Amino acid sequence: MPLVISPKEHIKNFCLKRFIQYNRDWIDQQVSEYGAVLYRGFDINSAADVEEAVKALEPDLSNEYRGTSPRNAVNGSTYVFSAAEVPSHYPIAQHLEMSFLPAPPRRLFFSALQAPKTKGGETALSDFRKVYRDIPKDLREKLARKKLRYTRTHYRKGANPLFTNDISSLDSWHDIFKTTDRSKVEEIAAKENFPVRWEGKNKDVFVSEYQSEPFQLHPVTKEPVWFNHAQVFHWTTYPSELWNSFKRIRDIRLLLQCGKAWTMAFTTYVVFRRKMALTVTFGDGEPISIKEMGIIRKTIHRHMIFNRWQKGDILEIDNFATSHGREPTYDKGRKIVVSWSSALTKSNDPV
Ligand SMILES: [Fe+2]
Repeated sequence: MPLVISPKEHIKNFCLKRFIQYNRDWIDQQVSEYGAVLYRGFDINSAADVEEAVKALEPDLSNEYRGTSPRNAVNGSTYVFSAAEVPSHYPIAQHLEMSFLPAPPRRLFFSALQAPKTKGGETALSDFRKVYRDIPKDLREKLARKKLRYTRTHYRKGANPLFTNDISSLDSWHDIFKTTDRSKVEEIAAKENFPVRWEGKNKDVFVSEYQSEPFQLHPVTKEPVWFNHAQVFHWTTYPSELWNSFKRIRDIRLLLQCGKAWTMAFTTYVVFRRKMALTVTFGDGEPISIKEMGIIRKTIHRHMIFNRWQKGDILEIDNFATSHGREPTYDKGRKIVVSWSSALTKSNDPV
């Protein structure tokens, strides 16, 4: 993974769109089987080129984003967004896009408008079918029995907490739902099938709390998939990801960042007992322990692959099988964009 599709060298100006039209069924099969397909060596030079190619790959795109990473539409695009408006030296842990929602996008499309030139900056992938298989049976059974509880908290614009490692807390509910009207948020919540309540003195803090299945059956192959955001939203994950990146890249700045992150995380979440913008516990409210989280992260990391980006690459990901994340880099020129397909409602089929 990923399967790499490239034109033969002697073909100039190869038209990716034409290739897709003639091979759509075959491509679909490969995405489900491999979990990700990388298109490399085609004429992709701008966000407009990306949008054209992605529309050919997936006619049913969406631009509604209810995730946790601040992102903006690229000028002039309807479906091409910056992957994450978060400084590039912040690692983003492996996740299936919006897997904590009732209906996450079926496919994702990342593209490199500018590849990182220095160390790091990969959009690493992990096979969440293998992660399900390799998580110890007792922990899997505990999760299947208790399920997961997600608690999502967002403040109004300007009221976000300061001095935090938690990038999700940077997004206000005004940004996420593109409105300042609480009744409109409630309408969206009803339509998209998630609960909402308002907390705080002025009843202006958005809170959504619900239970969710930790696994899913793959919609095509019917294999079980590790399908949750538990490790992304655990207070130990951000500093741990920095440590893992430091071990791989050996950039001393990551080690310093890691030390700072551990201090901040310990102070915020252990001493002051604050909660992350998205908190995940077992379904009965039992916290996921540091030991259990270590096992989960280790299993995910065992299946991670790190492909160096080349300018013009398009990476198509089966969001119901393969996770993605960002390796930190101090290269400020890196420019990765993302598009996503319409959503697929999660099933309640037993795994
Ligand atoms: Fe993502």
